[in-house]
This record gives sequence, C-alpha cells and structure tokens, in this order.
Amino acid sequence: MDNFAFYSPTYFAFGNGEEKKTGALVRRFGGSRVLLVMGGGSVKKIDAYEAVTDSLKKADLPFVELWGVQPNPRSGKVYEGIELVRRENLDFILALGGGSVIDTAKAIAFGAVYEGDFWEVFDRSGDMPEHPLPVGTVLTLSAAGSEGSNSCVITREEGNLKWGAPKSDALRPQFSVLNPRFTCSLPPYQTACGAVDMIAHICERYFTNTPNVGLTDRLCEALLKTIVEAAPKALENPMDYHARADLMWAGMLAHNDSCGVGRKQDWASHQIEHELSAFYDCAHGAGLAVVMPAWMSYVMPTNPARFARFAVEVFGCELDAMDVERTAKEGIRRLKSFFRLLGMPTTLKELGAKTEDIPAMVLHRAEKGFPFGGMVEIGPAEMADILLLCDEE
Ligand code: NZQ
Ligand code: ZN
Repeated sequence: MDNFAFYSPTYFAFGNGEEKKTGALVRRFGGSRVLLVMGGGSVKKIDAYEAVTDSLKKADLPFVELWGVQPNPRSGKVYEGIELVRRENLDFILALGGGSVIDTAKAIAFGAVYEGDFWEVFDRSGDMPEHPLPVGTVLTLSAAGSEGSNSCVITREEGNLKWGAPKSDALRPQFSVLNPRFTCSLPPYQTACGAVDMIAHICERYFTNTPNVGLTDRLCEALLKTIVEAAPKALENPMDYHARADLMWAGMLAHNDSCGVGRKQDWASHQIEHELSAFYDCAHGAGLAVVMPAWMSYVMPTNPARFARFAVEVFGCELDAMDVERTAKEGIRRLKSFFRLLGMPTTLKELGAKTEDIPAMVLHRAEKGFPFGGMVEIGPAEMADILLLCDEE
C-alpha cells in the first residue's frame, strides 16, 4: 500500500426524515443566509423541496432560490449563482438534487470567493481558494458521489469543455443529508445510470497495478457486489427502501476515496466519457456503460490476473487457472450483460454517438492534454482505439 493522506470531514445524516435537520445543520456549519441550488423541478414532485424549505424557515434562515441546473451542468448557472451570492450577501450554498446540482453549488462556493473568473481554477491558470463558502447537500439521486467527494465537474459553454476542477478537500461538503426515500421517484434510466457511475467509480480504483492493497480490494468488491444486487431490486420495485438505501450509501463510499487510498488510480474511462457527454449531452452513467467494458477489454491483457479476480469475486465466475485471460474476459462479458440488464446502452450507436466523430473527440480532449490513465497510459491513439472498441457487440 502506498503512503496517503485522507481527510473527509463531511457530516452525514442518513435515513428517512433526516432532511428535517437541514436548517439546524446549516446553522451548525456557520450559515446565516443561504443560496438554495436546484435543478429542473423534480424536487417539487417529491416532498423534498417542501421539507427542506420548511426546515430552513424553522431555523430562521433567509434563502434565495437558484433553479434550472441542467444535467452536465453548465458554467452559465455558476456565474449566475456567484452573482446572486455577492449581490444578496449570502454565506452558505445548499444543493438540493443530484450530482449536477451539487457540482454547481461547489463551483459557486469557490467561485464567489475567487477574485478572477472561476474557470481559471478549472483550466489550472488559477489556484483553488483555500476557504470556499461552506456547502451542504440534500441528495436526491444516488450516482455521482459528489455528496462526499473532493471533485466538481462543470461544462464551460464556450468551447464545450467538460472538465473537472483539481481535486481538493476544500470541495467536500460540510454536510450531506441522504434520505433514500427521495430516490424512489427516479425513473429507471436514472437509477441505472447511477448504478453504472458508482460501479465505474469503484473500478477506476480497483483496476490498478499497485500491489498489496488487500483491504481496499475487498472493500471495493463488497461495494460492487452490493450494487450488482441492489440495482435490479430497485428497478423491479422502485419503492424498495432497503435497496435504495444500499445504493445511496454505496454511491457515497464509491467516491469519497475510502476504497481508493494507497494505490495508483486509473480514471481513463471517466476521461473518455467526459468527451461523450460533451459531444452528445448523454447521461454520464450511460456513457460509462459504453466506455468501461471497452476500456477493460483494451487494458486487460496487461494484467489478466486482476481482471480474473474481478470476474471471480464480483460475478462469481469460476477461475480457469490454466487460462486466466478466459476468466478475465468472462468477467468483462458479465459486466456488459449486467449493464444491458439495467437497460443501459453498451455501444456508441445505442448511445447515439458516431464513430465518425472519434477523431474530433480525440482532438477536443487534446485541449486538456494527454496522457491520462493509471494501469495503461492513454494517448490520442489509444483513446481512439478504445472508442472504436466501443462499437463491438
Ligand atoms: O433537474 P431535475 O428536475 O432535478 O432532474 C434530475 C435530472 O434530470 C433528475 N433527478 C434527480 N433526482 C431525482 C430526479 N428525478 C426524479 N426523482 C429524483 N429524486 O435526474 C436527472 C439527472 O440529474 P444529475 O444531477 O445530472 O445526475 P447525476 O447525479 O448522475 O450527476 C451527473 C453529473 O455529475 C458529474 C457527471 O459528470 C455529471 O455532470 N460527476 C460528478 C462527480 C463528482 N463531483 O464527484 C463525479 C462523477 O464521476 C461525475 O463525473
Ligand atoms: Zn462518474
């Protein structure tokens, strides 16, 4: 296991009814005037909006609402939020929604205290402020893990750049309220996209060449098995609280890095997927369902034993000791069928993407730079090869 630092100070309130504590939590973490950030309105169809605003009123907290964050969140909404915070003299950012809402809240929180254009932090020409405004979240979608993560992903409209901010503990929320019941209203497609994103967050860490990481390997496997069990249950019965609860906590654990410490991580599939969502505005999880198995097939020959272990531990495949690659391939096949079972696309065509666009996607990615990846270094040629593999059945 490599040396590491791990600082994850987010306070979690988990379970049905915990959203009633939101106002008290904002107070506890220093808020007195709140910017409430939300998406396109799903929170009004469930009782989340009412419960959270009631709780803020009970705590005597004035708040200003910012609606309209869209999936694959855009920089325009961040500028709007920064402007509101400064004009209304707000001191706490509360996100009510999924990963896109939370990431917008995070970007507003550091953008409001940054002197220049907040995008300079994304393009690395400026530094992440050490003390952004505090952020709290009330999560309504188990997927991105932003409720506990040190990441933030925004698309800048100019140039259509979907980039992540430099990872920073300053981006971790002060608190996150996780009520699994809020996720019962998710359409099957979003539930499935969420499960794929969580699986990908674990795989980006699990697939490593770092030796002697037995504990975190087992933590990864436990999470993967839990998601593989819970996601079909949630699809079959959307109101299954316990399946929703497993997914919700798994999504947080998949990405707060407790499973990824002490090892070299990969993240190539995410880097490639961000081009798909930039080009086609697809759901992040759907893009990952296409890229991840292709990336696995591409990289597997460099470390078949690790992929065979995945097949055995996660999907219960039998190890063929004489032909480890055969077991490894079976694991990848099982993962792909699992994605199909969830109703996810597994080819570029099913995603609505075109092989003709591959050179343009590689070129677009070059603005951010090559290489990326951990198990295998991915340059422009490798990225193009992986995207081509995405069209194989
Ligand atoms: O906008 P509303 O009306 O709220 O609808 C949303 C949206 O259309 C809907 N939704 C959310 N909760 C719901 C619901 N519908 C019914 N019932 C509910 N309870 O779901 C749709 C998708 O929401 P979104 O927030 O976009 O999804 P997700 O949580 O998957 O977030 C995806 C974004 O997070 C980024 C992705 O790239 C993508 O931009 N990521 C962020 C990460 C991070 N900050 O740590 C890590 C991830 O790897 C990922 O890159
Ligand atoms: Zn992701």
